[in-house]
Amino acid sequence: MTFTGKVAVVTGAASGIGRATALALGRRGARVALFDLNPEGMAETAAQLQQAGAQSQSYGLDITNQEQVNQTVAQVVERWGSLHIMVNAAGINQAGPTSYGPGIEVSEADWDRMMDVNLMGTVHCALAAAQYMRPLRRGRIVNVASVAGAVPRMNMASYCVAKAAVRMFTKCLALELAAFSITVNAVAPGPTQTPMLGSAAGDADPQALERMIAGNPDIYRLGVPLGKLGQPEDVASAIQYLASDEAHHVTGVILNVDGMAQLT
Ligand SMILES: NC(=O)c1ccc[n+]([C@@H]2O[C@H](COP(=O)([O-])OP(=O)(O)OC[C@H]3O[C@@H](n4cnc5c(N)ncnc54)[C@H](O)[C@@H]3O)[C@@H](O)[C@H]2O)c1
Repeated sequence: MTFTGKVAVVTGAASGIGRATALALGRRGARVALFDLNPEGMAETAAQLQQAGAQSQSYGLDITNQEQVNQTVAQVVERWGSLHIMVNAAGINQAGPTSYGPGIEVSEADWDRMMDVNLMGTVHCALAAAQYMRPLRRGRIVNVASVAGAVPRMNMASYCVAKAAVRMFTKCLALELAAFSITVNAVAPGPTQTPMLGSAAGDADPQALERMIAGNPDIYRLGVPLGKLGQPEDVASAIQYLASDEAHHVTGVILNVDGMAQLT
């Protein structure tokens, strides 16, 4: 599998799954545009890409701002003359003080923020890419959903709903863009060892990750049947396949990368 000659945008590239994906694509020859709010994190990703001999360019932006997204995607196309792959990995699992807790108590502001980043941020980036790809009749869009968008999780209602929406958006867009040979797929990670997971598990509690694997009746019930957390590279491998030329006949798929946590 090679990405030589390909231009890829990866959102959330400053950390976790986005960083691992940027590195995976860059190491296989793609030029990678890094999109994120966090300049320090992007600088670290860019340094790792440079070490690997890959080309990248960092763009600081907030994916909730549609105009900024459109302008930034246009800048990428202007710089490198093309856009073949859009990976939407930016996301949040905490949108404010009430977003982790009983759904009945989540504030409107926290609902809005969760939906803005996880759903509308993904929508803005996917559409900006699709606008460019459609006349060329080719392209790969890969969204990062979650098993939490298919299986309800205690105290995570707004996150689960936003990720469920990302899953359906992926399928609808796949259907609409199929006539243009553009594929749209999503990966659905289970618990994956990134900074985001630490905050979900409770950073202060060293046994929290163990409980997440073993199962916690209040939150994750049966845990992860494969008995381990995912690594960002595990998710990046699946994204890499969906972004590849080889996956040209695969669209509208939600690929679980979760050690079978979707059953729990
Ligand atoms: N880690 C897990 O267990 C897990 C499980 C399922 C799904 N996911 C999903 O995977 C994706 C990546 O998560 P991660 O675990 O790597 O988290 P992470 O916190 O390590 O990385 C998320 C990145 O998104 C960026 N970001 C957040 N809001 C943004 C915005 N408005 N504009 C631009 N950038 C923004 C952050 O700065 C950060 O660099 C997310 O969509 C997350 O919901 C993660």
